[in-house]
Amino acid sequence: MVGRRIEITTSRTAEWTCLSRAASSLESNSHYQSDDHIALLLVPTLLKILLHIPLVRRFFCRVIAPKGIYEYTIARTKYIDAVFKEVLFEGFDQILIFGAGFDTRALRFRKETGCTKIFELDASITQKAKLDRYAERGLSIPANVAFIPIDFDKELLSEKLEDSGFNRGSRSLFVLEGLLMYLQPESVDETFKVIERYAGEGSEVVFDYVRASVLRQTGSYYGEREILKSVAKAGEQWYSGFEEDELEGFLKKHALSVMEHKDAENLEQMYFSGASGEIKGRINATHCLVRTVKAEMEGAVLRPAPDPRS
Ligand SMILES: C[S@@+](CC[C@H](N)C(=O)[O-])C[C@H]1O[C@@H](n2cnc3c(N)ncnc32)[C@H](O)[C@@H]1O
Repeated sequence: MVGRRIEITTSRTAEWTCLSRAASSLESNSHYQSDDHIALLLVPTLLKILLHIPLVRRFFCRVIAPKGIYEYTIARTKYIDAVFKEVLFEGFDQILIFGAGFDTRALRFRKETGCTKIFELDASITQKAKLDRYAERGLSIPANVAFIPIDFDKELLSEKLEDSGFNRGSRSLFVLEGLLMYLQPESVDETFKVIERYAGEGSEVVFDYVRASVLRQTGSYYGEREILKSVAKAGEQWYSGFEEDELEGFLKKHALSVMEHKDAENLEQMYFSGASGEIKGRINATHCLVRTVKAEMEGAVLRPAPDPRS
């Protein structure tokens, strides 16, 4: 943890995710195309120009990037976009985006947001870089959005929420996208403990995680060696992962029931399968995506998962 990069400069993995979303917004192939047109405004001007060239895009996202990570980022963005829109439609009181990086949903879904309050939490340097970029590009921030700087490994999430106007006990969505792997295991546990204490009944948590065996470098998954190398190079190490079979027990301990649990193969079926079922893009298999709900364990009512293509 000594001298972590996020304490010194903007998160490189957040920048890379933003670049991937910007590139994806320009794709003509429907499997690769996603809607984050604001991400494109946040990348440096030269890069923005270069990304319009399909060959350059291919080079950045499919040659330099670890195998299947571009495809994973696209699938994850589409999946979480669908959950985000669904809870806005249902009128959830609050949405909290933990480790927000250059997540642009607060701006992209401003029309759908209604009375929902949005909180973005992130390492202070990355959060400031994002706010500076919004200001430089003339992107106005909706009045319902609050920004909370935090280091999840060093500061108390409960205190930050108490000080921020967060409404304890109301129905909230917690988005933890590309975050948990970067936290110490104790911080992951503490984060879920706080969610358990502060979330109202029917609240949801959507997150992704890295398989624990990836941290042991067993080399068993598609794209594993490449992603580990790239994360180390970015200076943002992975510390936490879950074994697939221990996850449900962990979540149950925190009063959460699994609504959906998707691995790379499931996500390929959802987002990259062609008309006759052939897979058009292979997804890095080191991560899984999970959607959970806080409900009484007995008789929990699980709503159907969103249609990913809507
Ligand atoms: C891979 S990026 C994901 C960003 C964003 N969720 C997205 O999907 O575009 C990881 C994010 O986690 C944040 N992060 C990592 N460790 C953190 C910590 N200890 N405290 C606060 N934020 C942290 C970084 O600042 C960065 O924004």
